[in-house]
Amino acid sequence: MGKTVVVAGIPGVGKTTVLDELRRMLEGRADHVEVVNFGTVMKELFEKAGERIHRDEMRRRSLGLQKEVQVKAAALIAQKARRGAVIVDTHMFVETGDGLLAGTPSHVLTELKPSALILIEAEPEEIAKRRFMDKERVRGTANHKRIIEELAWSRATAAACAVLTGAPVKIITNEEGKQREAARAILELL
Ligand code: AP5
Repeated sequence: MGKTVVVAGIPGVGKTTVLDELRRMLEGRADHVEVVNFGTVMKELFEKAGERIHRDEMRRRSLGLQKEVQVKAAALIAQKARRGAVIVDTHMFVETGDGLLAGTPSHVLTELKPSALILIEAEPEEIAKRRFMDKERVRGTANHKRIIEELAWSRATAAACAVLTGAPVKIITNEEGKQREAARAILELL
């Protein structure tokens, strides 16, 4: 069984950009390392069930449905981990209409069995700017105070995951224009 690393960050922190860099760095390596976006797996499950849905709409669905799809996605990702190392691009929490839903609650962690947890962070001003500039996505508020609260909540949730799994938490900063450096920091951990 391969190793699974969970990479999380609040919307707009740039984790997908960093992981795209990492994917390029991993190209051509003999060992099998796959970067999997949790949201994409969920979206595919929605579509398999006959519902075409935008990725920013999934968190607006009923809590029950999100949780059902979430656990199915975790099981599919766990299957991939049997073939080699998997890096899971996800969130510590998702802001739903019913409140903050943990992205990796205990039953998801039981499926994924991560050996490490990585939190991607950035300066609140940079996150606000990235959210505001990216017009193709609906990532939530660009309110500075709220972003600081989201970062704190993300760390608190990561701490809970560390307690549940025994996996260490590493915090990596995605500085402006330095996504490659952030990807390299993840690569060093692998
Ligand atoms: P998800 O698929 O994770 O959304 P995403 O697009 O991958 O991620 P974010 O919206 O969080 O953006 P990002 O931080 O990756 O930023 P990006 O790299 O694009 O989630 C989609 C949905 O799936 C969720 O809402 C939820 O419903 C569901 N979901 C996922 N996981 C779940 C779970 N475990 N349980 C339940 N539901 C789950 O970058 C943003 C912008 O910043 C870009 O314009 C980019 O160019 C720019 N940028 C990035 N880095 C830099 C840099 N260093 N310098 C300058 N600009 C930068």
